[in-house]
Amino acid sequence: MVGLKQISCLSTLFLNTLAAAIPISQGADGSAEFPSIDKNNPPFDIWNETTGIGFFNSTNFTLGIGAAGDVGDGPANNPAQTASCSGLTTGSSQFWYEAITHNGESSYLTAADKASYSVFRNVVTGFGADNTGVKDASAAIQNAINGIQLFVGTVIVGDPINPPILKASSNFSDDHIVYAKDPNLGGTVNFYIGFKNIVIDSTAVNPSQSLGLLDWTVSQATQITNVVFNMPIGSTGHTGLTTDYGYNSNTILGDLTFYGGNIGLDLSGQQWVFKDITFSGTKIGVIAGATDIVFQGCMFNGVNIGINASSTSGSLTVIDSTGIVSNTLISSHTSNNATNSIVLDNIQNVGNTVTLGGSVVLSGSVTDTWVHGDLYTSGNSNKQYASGQTVNTPRPSVLLSNGDYFTMKPPTYQDYAVDQFVNIKTVTDYPVYGDGYTDDTVNINAILKQYAGCKIIYFPAGTYIVTDTILAPKGSRIFGDAYASAISAAGGNFANALTPRAMVQVGEAGDVGVAQINDMIFTVSDVLPGCKMVEVNIAGSNPGDVGFWNSHFRVGGAKGTTIEEICLNDPDTCKAAWGMMHLTNTSSAYLENMWGWTADHDLDGNNNQTIATGRGILVEATKGTWLIGTAFEHNTLYQYNFNYASNVFSAMQQSETPYWQGPGSEYAPDPWAGSLIASDPNFSNCAAGDALCRMAFFERIQSSSDLFLYGGCVWAFFNDNGDCNSSNGDCQTNAISTQNSSALYLYNTNVKSITNMVLDNFTPIATEADNVGGWGGVIAAYLYST
Ligand SMILES: *[C@@H]1O[C@H](CO)[C@@H](O)[C@H](O)[C@H]1NC(C)=O
Ligand SMILES: *[C@@H]1O[C@H](CO)[C@@H](O)[C@H](O)[C@H]1NC(C)=O
Ligand SMILES: *[C@@H]1O[C@H](CO)[C@@H](O)[C@H](O)[C@H]1NC(C)=O
Ligand SMILES: *[C@@H]1O[C@H](CO)[C@@H](O)[C@H](O)[C@H]1NC(C)=O
Ligand SMILES: *[C@@H]1O[C@H](CO)[C@@H](O)[C@H](O)[C@H]1NC(C)=O
Ligand SMILES: *[C@@H]1O[C@H](CO)[C@@H](O)[C@H](O)[C@H]1NC(C)=O
Ligand SMILES: *[C@@H]1O[C@H](CO)[C@@H](O)[C@H](O)[C@H]1NC(C)=O
Ligand SMILES: *[C@@H]1O[C@H](CO)[C@@H](O)[C@H](O)[C@H]1NC(C)=O
Ligand SMILES: *[C@@H]1O[C@H](CO)[C@@H](O)[C@H](O)[C@H]1NC(C)=O
Ligand SMILES: *[C@@H]1O[C@H](CO)[C@@H](O)[C@H](O)[C@H]1NC(C)=O
Ligand SMILES: *[C@@H]1O[C@H](CO)[C@@H](O)[C@H](O)[C@H]1NC(C)=O
Repeated sequence: MVGLKQISCLSTLFLNTLAAAIPISQGADGSAEFPSIDKNNPPFDIWNETTGIGFFNSTNFTLGIGAAGDVGDGPANNPAQTASCSGLTTGSSQFWYEAITHNGESSYLTAADKASYSVFRNVVTGFGADNTGVKDASAAIQNAINGIQLFVGTVIVGDPINPPILKASSNFSDDHIVYAKDPNLGGTVNFYIGFKNIVIDSTAVNPSQSLGLLDWTVSQATQITNVVFNMPIGSTGHTGLTTDYGYNSNTILGDLTFYGGNIGLDLSGQQWVFKDITFSGTKIGVIAGATDIVFQGCMFNGVNIGINASSTSGSLTVIDSTGIVSNTLISSHTSNNATNSIVLDNIQNVGNTVTLGGSVVLSGSVTDTWVHGDLYTSGNSNKQYASGQTVNTPRPSVLLSNGDYFTMKPPTYQDYAVDQFVNIKTVTDYPVYGDGYTDDTVNINAILKQYAGCKIIYFPAGTYIVTDTILAPKGSRIFGDAYASAISAAGGNFANALTPRAMVQVGEAGDVGVAQINDMIFTVSDVLPGCKMVEVNIAGSNPGDVGFWNSHFRVGGAKGTTIEEICLNDPDTCKAAWGMMHLTNTSSAYLENMWGWTADHDLDGNNNQTIATGRGILVEATKGTWLIGTAFEHNTLYQYNFNYASNVFSAMQQSETPYWQGPGSEYAPDPWAGSLIASDPNFSNCAAGDALCRMAFFERIQSSSDLFLYGGCVWAFFNDNGDCNSSNGDCQTNAISTQNSSALYLYNTNVKSITNMVLDNFTPIATEADNVGGWGGVIAAYLYST
């Protein structure tokens, strides 16, 4: 086949209503479960010392993904809740997502375009792609992607029960098999692209030919999950995933398997978390280019080099990972300062572990935390330089599974047959439209109430307007068409900043049970200062029972909201939402791949966007909270606020300050000064006229304990939408504020252009100038009252 190019988007982009969801049926090669690797008892002797390449005997296994019973499928981890009905039953041979009625729409198209635009496209039944492995299927697949392609935002979905294989023929000559990036847009604005449940196979191609299997030069609110990259063992030319087509701002890659090949991931970009990724017999696991990188739950099985971090400029964090390596698990350059920080936490490794500038500085396993870089010990504002110091990080058991921080695969619900699902737009007596203007509040609530614990609710593509709180009761499981199924607030109930009201409320205070939300977008259709977009009150009985996967916030910046056209220059009139996410003090939730974006630019036009959303995420939970690959950007008071919170684990928090803040613009807490609540920063630590001080905190930590925050970063680029020259290049004074807290473990914190990295009780403790590295400042370990 030839390379698949996503050619999309003409002049106007409707990013809230896009998506071509394409199940590609199974290839001829068959599939089975890839063997799981026991990290506590890894196979030791499987590499060739001469070549530095090792692997499982491939003839024993065929590759496949997502076998029944994997965590994330649903029932294995999430027993059905019995509400007033009999609960969910399992047992399915057909993937529900292929079988269910797809009556979604792109809500803001003209009627004529709507009629001819098919959101869901099956490449086999709709476009004639050959799935027997005999004929070239590339043209048919490409046709399915193009359609009447007016819209960026393509999601390619395979069948996880019988994963399709995209196999390059032996005469394949392009440089990549699949290109994910929309070539009409820069990498940093390639949002809303997905790729899941697929095997990409290059084993028929000459192993020395230079070939990338997938190029992924994309940014936040994208998802690649449950993908196998099958490459020839001993290859000198094949790379699994690249970012060859420009700069990018990714957040998370998760649940991927690399088999064979020369390089698994060859990357550049701003920041990444790599979650639960396995490399087997890949010569070099990862070339890890970026400022802030976190690996969690990764397995480097029989590799030569696990992570080549010589192009990691700020910090590298590796947590709960395993290596069996012939050369070294981590290779980087030497540094005796803040730059190039390395933190290892719970690593089992057979072989050299860290090699710096060619010298092995660490071998074997790390049972606790190993810190290389600037370190602040508890109660001491003088930094130390640690060149491999061991630190004790006592993990609360509530956050753990078999000693590792809990993670799980995004649910596919593949074990449930289609009759276990309800399409919210097909319920008799409760018409729901998702058409971008009809008020769907009452009927969505009725359906969620009726089916909680009994059915999984599917929201087909479309914008669902709600004028009051949607309650997702205990027992709810919700699945959308990724990036295309939006819940959007409207109306007077959400108007008053003094009485914020939830748009989506997940559970009641004190509930314990299941509530899972997948592939949904939360937005507002107008300026709504009293709209708290999502509030979570419920806790799970087990980790992962309550969670959000690949679900994102967008305020402004797109069709379907008046904000796009009216919020051009004045924050005062654009208090567009009270806040995005509130994890209340009775909640316990797992969040994976979430981007809370107040738009800094217009995706569908060229309007200025000056939007003053009040708050990013407020965490008041104490019973266990997991934030895996989250990003909150451009909110007015703070991006992250931990208030009376405890037992929180985070892998990668990416954020940016509003571009409109700073000298010449409004001073925080304006325009919210008249409606602050107790947990809000009031900026009384700043002089009245100190514009650089009166800008959004990246993170506020108040009266909290046992926070384990790995790989946080905040980038400040602008003042009043322009450069920061008047302040000598420092765009902002403060990033993180801590008060009255204990047992805070901040590992690998990065800032760009912010004077003070951490304040304690409003006194600067750690400055960018003292920790120069990465894109500005890097602190390997900030230990507070530990
Ligand atoms: C290791 O690889 C070398 C070079 O390809 C080969 O000659 C040798 O037989 C291999 N050793 C084993 C034990 O497979
Ligand atoms: C792999 O296993 C197959 C079947 O057991 C065996 O025939 C073959 O020799 C093995 N190959 C290697 C390299 O061990
Ligand atoms: C592969 O299969 C062969 C034959 O069944 C068995 O002897 C061998 O141990 C297997 N290898 C692995 C790595 O499981
Ligand atoms: C490559 O191989 C495929 C499958 O055998 C064949 O259909 C195609 O025509 C070949 N292309 C070229 C350029 O030779
Ligand atoms: C790591 O990658 C860089 C290119 O980014 C390369 O120059 C260097 O040789 C590699 N290091 C090792 C040990 O392979
Ligand atoms: C940090 O160390 C690196 C490598 O030795 C060096 O290139 C860089 O200039 C140093 N940075 C500072 C701020 O000293
Ligand atoms: C939890 O938060 C609610 C609402 O803010 C508050 O009324 C309650 O006292 C808090 N409970 C605890 C245990 O802190
Ligand atoms: C957009 O912003 C620019 C720069 O801040 C400003 O010069 C311009 O007047 C604004 N345009 C509109 C239509 O408000
Ligand atoms: C501002 O917040 C601080 C705590 O962070 C508090 O001590 C102070 O009283 C507040 N000031 C006002 C005017 O509310
Ligand atoms: C400090 O934090 C503790 C623990 O959360 C809390 O009980 C106490 O009220 C807080 N004190 C102040 C002054 O905020
Ligand atoms: C601001 O600084 C940047 C580089 O730091 C420079 O390129 C730019 O010309 C400066 N702008 C002004 C208005 O001085």
